[in-house]
Amino acid sequence: MAKSKEKQYIYIVQATLEPAKCKIGKTNDLERRLKEYNSMTGISKDNIYQYLFTCEVKNMTQVENDIKEKYSTLREEKSKEIYFYNSYLFNQYVIFIKNHNMFLKEIFIKTEPKKQIVKIIKKTTPSLEEREISRKDVMQKAKKIKNDEFYTRYEDVEKELSMYNKSVWKNKTVFCNCDDAVGDTEKSTSAFSLYFINNFKELKLKKLICTHYSGVVDLFNQGAKGYIFTKDGFHEFKEYPDGYNGSFDHPLSLKILKEETDIVCTNPPFSRAADYWKTTIESGKKFLIISNITNVKNKAYMHYFIENKVWAGYNRVDCFLNPKKELVEAAGHWYTNIPIINRPKYEYLKIVSLNKIPEKYKKYDDKKILIVNDGYIPDGYKKPFAVSPRIILNGLLEKGYNMTQDREYVPYINGKRCFGMVLVQKI
Ligand SMILES: C[S@@+](CC[C@H](N)C(=O)[O-])C[C@H]1O[C@@H](n2cnc3c(N)ncnc32)[C@H](O)[C@@H]1O
Repeated sequence: MAKSKEKQYIYIVQATLEPAKCKIGKTNDLERRLKEYNSMTGISKDNIYQYLFTCEVKNMTQVENDIKEKYSTLREEKSKEIYFYNSYLFNQYVIFIKNHNMFLKEIFIKTEPKKQIVKIIKKTTPSLEEREISRKDVMQKAKKIKNDEFYTRYEDVEKELSMYNKSVWKNKTVFCNCDDAVGDTEKSTSAFSLYFINNFKELKLKKLICTHYSGVVDLFNQGAKGYIFTKDGFHEFKEYPDGYNGSFDHPLSLKILKEETDIVCTNPPFSRAADYWKTTIESGKKFLIISNITNVKNKAYMHYFIENKVWAGYNRVDCFLNPKKELVEAAGHWYTNIPIINRPKYEYLKIVSLNKIPEKYKKYDDKKILIVNDGYIPDGYKKPFAVSPRIILNGLLEKGYNMTQDREYVPYINGKRCFGMVLVQKI
């Protein structure tokens, strides 16, 4: 009689005392496999293996191999089935398995009560749909940011970083140096760190170095000691050097910046932004950072734009998350010294001769300085003229114009103060 075909399963299992790891494997018998894990010699009674996900598949070897291939950089060691774990990655593994053409059905295994299992937290940023609110509601509820203590959202990091050609990152060491913690869960990991860990292989990174800052507010719940997390290929480790506080200007951080870093990438504290820009720009390294959108008209930063040491990145950042994980309104923008290719926002620059600019979008202030609005730029106009800061963020300085002064220009019309603008001139 022909032997009935054995069922095939893929599982994700985790030990209670190893929350930063999980094992992804295959078996014909889920119950027996779990018993095997829990009876391994040397395993402590408190270290209990539990399934996080199990499913039936048509060809377990193929699914397992495809997981190995897809997540090769997230494996602790090439030879073992141990994968880096946090809730974001866990979701990715499950989505991958469920979308595999060999996936049949999820199996729900009753876990024994009382046993401690690792809590799988929700995605850091639930979608507006998930929270059943509209963007308008969010913006109405949003509060103004008052301090440094807020998180960058994963989607904002992904949106900006995916704009750059992958060759930018190839064989590079990336340094995330403003409390870019790497914890056991998504909640305790900065979006910058997570993005680079998740895309380490895809971007062909050489190394990722992230630091945790031991400030007054421990945004990522990572303890009072500063640390340095390094991912060097498959090898991942954390160091807690004596007296290290994780500050970007700590001698050890400066040493990493100077000796190891190719690209700096983070959202630095607003309160230290001027020092941070100075340190980073003077290091001569490439950088991609978030800062206040108004920096283009702020005296502390404008000279960098004039000297062509910095320019706007692709996107603005309208929201962050506060420590309660609530959305807060923000006025951030990406800034960089990495080349911007075909900036999409050029399309908002309407460079036409002065007489083609509609009257309502051009006027002269009390000093007879031309002020243009609505994206209009007078082509062939030789004198300085004033534009809104947004025009600089849309790439005007890349179109043959420069700022003529390193401070905001405040026009007066009929003695009435107008909004602060930026004075520019055709080179
Ligand atoms: C805007 S938050 C961003 C946190 C994280 N990089 C992110 O993007 O989600 C700025 C962080 O920098 C930390 N910080 C403050 N002073 C710092 C310093 N001197 N060096 C490094 N980080 C600092 C703050 O505690 C805060 O966690």
